Amino acid sequence: MTEPAVLFVCLGNICRSPLAEAAFRAEAAKAGLRVTVDSAGTADYHVGEPPDPRAIRTAARFGIDISGYRGRQASAADFDRFTHILAADHSNLRNLERIAPPAHSARLSLLLDLVPGRTGEAVADPWYGDEDGFLVTWKEVSAAARALVAELQA
Ligand code: 4NP
Repeated sequence: MTEPAVLFVCLGNICRSPLAEAAFRAEAAKAGLRVTVDSAGTADYHVGEPPDPRAIRTAARFGIDISGYRGRQASAADFDRFTHILAADHSNLRNLERIAPPAHSARLSLLLDLVPGRTGEAVADPWYGDEDGFLVTWKEVSAAARALVAELQA
């Protein structure tokens, strides 16, 4: 079996997907799982930028330093590099479907499809709210990260 490679995607790659990447890296490391992990945005607004300060502070509360992450935009080539591409919301999912090459074998779905009882739901964008929203995001992406690690280990 090819080693799993997981890409988390949101709009800006500075709030939700960096937190998902961090949560999944931590869960995979805890489980001793060998996996490639990255995150990207469907938009190019924040290419080259670090995560939002509120996301950096939220990850730090859980002992994880994401200040070195840098924003990048998702591209068609990601469908060849990653086995799993997980979109934070429906708009991200539609945009990924739009750029996907005609033939690819990546599994593309909503991130919360991984969490029992949350199928079809979006990870709400915390960008416009206060810092409490980032904690909600952290809990959601962590639940998805744990579920994906369990699935990849099975
Ligand atoms: P993200 O949040 O998609 O979770 O990274 C956003 C970050 C920036 C913007 C929108 C959403 N923006 O419009 O710049």
